[in-house]
Amino acid sequence: MSTYEHLLYLSKAGAPLLHISSYEWERVRGLAIGLSNKLDLPLHVWSQSTGLLACNEHGDLRIEDDAATDPMELLQHIHGGDEPGIWLLEDFQPFLREEHHPILRWLRELARLPASPRKIVVLSTPLPVLPLDLRKEIPTVELDLPGVDELRVVLEDAAAAMGVRASADEALLDAARGLTVMEARLAFGKAAAELERLDHASVPLVAREKERIIKQSEVLEYYPTDARMTDVGGLDQLKEWLDRRGRAFGAGARDFGLDAPKGVLLLGVQGCGKSLLAKAVAATWQFPLLRFDMGKVFGGIVGQSEGNIRTALQVAQALAPCVLWIDEIEKGLAGMGSSDQTDGGTTARVVGTLLTWMQEKTAPVFVVATANRIDMLPPELLRKGRFDEIFFVDLPTRAVREEILAIHLERKRRDPKDFALADLAERSVGFSGAELEEAVREGMYDAFAEGLELSSDHIARALDKTFPLSRTMRDQIDSLRHWAKVRARLAAGEPPEVLPADNPEAAAPRLRQEATRNPFIPGSRS
Ligand SMILES: Nc1ncnc2c1ncn2[C@@H]1O[C@H](COP(=O)(O)OP(=O)(O)O)[C@@H](O)[C@H]1O
Ligand SMILES: [Mg+2]
Repeated sequence: MSTYEHLLYLSKAGAPLLHISSYEWERVRGLAIGLSNKLDLPLHVWSQSTGLLACNEHGDLRIEDDAATDPMELLQHIHGGDEPGIWLLEDFQPFLREEHHPILRWLRELARLPASPRKIVVLSTPLPVLPLDLRKEIPTVELDLPGVDELRVVLEDAAAAMGVRASADEALLDAARGLTVMEARLAFGKAAAELERLDHASVPLVAREKERIIKQSEVLEYYPTDARMTDVGGLDQLKEWLDRRGRAFGAGARDFGLDAPKGVLLLGVQGCGKSLLAKAVAATWQFPLLRFDMGKVFGGIVGQSEGNIRTALQVAQALAPCVLWIDEIEKGLAGMGSSDQTDGGTTARVVGTLLTWMQEKTAPVFVVATANRIDMLPPELLRKGRFDEIFFVDLPTRAVREEILAIHLERKRRDPKDFALADLAERSVGFSGAELEEAVREGMYDAFAEGLELSSDHIARALDKTFPLSRTMRDQIDSLRHWAKVRARLAAGEPPEVLPADNPEAAAPRLRQEATRNPFIPGSRS
């Protein structure tokens, strides 16, 4: 359902007070004009700087009362009046804060207006900032990013404004998907200024501008990658599963009755290829990879966090088909357990927004979330049905360690056949993929310093010198494995190896409270 239809149905259902959240005031006003024409109600536009304006069916404005800049008086005026109409209150967010208690009070009065005379008040704010108690009374409508049809209008507008010729090239409109109307206008405008025309030749310019704008949002980032599935050692079950899901995006899948896959959560030991796999998925499917930084979602201003995540999800949706990669999702979610006390429920709402969106999205956006820890993840994220599947990525088994060593040797332009891979794999029980990669690199340095060609010996020495993380994190890995046993699928083709018992001589420095004497105990000093 389009935003306009949504608004129309809510109005027809008798809602006296509506909220639209969008930066795009022009499109919001356009919607209000459409509503006013359709329902045959006069439209008034208000902002604190202009006062009250009358707006006709073409969008022409006439000053009605430029002194009516006080929001309180305005609400009372609407409430008490006998005239039917639509009032669009633009940039209303400063008055939605708790300290404006009387205004909030009057909004609640308006939300209970009788059906006649027909009065509709539309609040427009750039961010979704309704206070909690109003959320229950006022439906919020979000404006989707412009689609190709709207972008075509923007393109023609921009061309006319710049006095250049435009051909509404599909690829050009496609390049602007993910931008707001204002951003698209600017991107087209810049391209027109540079090339003095707007056609297929402008595609790279608009694409570059879009990349820049998306990066500015800080929450999302285009992540160009050429990682291949063959760069990832092991994880056979996961790869096979992904291959099947990938096909569900292909032609014919929809007709067959398949839904577009939602996404996958990769949980497990750090350094074992989760992030690498996310990149390889995007490259293999030839989808753009959008990296989403959960940690940056949480802005300082109230409402900012939710605004951030909604914007990011809208952009991802507009860029579909794409892979939305949420790396180390737990990072942004610290304190989830007690969030209601610490952040007024913001974290919970952000997670809720993400989950609801995943549930409801129809656009082919494949979410790949990774996590190194489970104790910081909210349980609702792990509940069945959120992700299509949860995979547990464990330390590589012996055969996979051989594979990983071979991959990294090949990347250093060495022939794996020249190396005693079986022996090296034998020595590296408990090593992660990242640690194996590091041992190859370390061996290269040593060989170069000795003026020798790289040999198995160099790598073996590097391995022996390494103290793998799995030694210090033994307990954590055991509890992860225990957790995953019944709740996740194994990414690997075979069960994990039992980690060797700690050798006391080489024991890892454990963090333990040393029994030193506290010098501040009264009477203890002699
Ligand atoms: N299974 C693997 N196959 C090949 N290389 C790996 C594997 N696991 C880790 N690596 C190497 O270690 C690096 C870091 O791994 P990464 O994917 O970031 O781990 P994670 O996200 O699970 O913490 C990778 O870029 C890759 O070079
Ligand atoms: Mg990672």
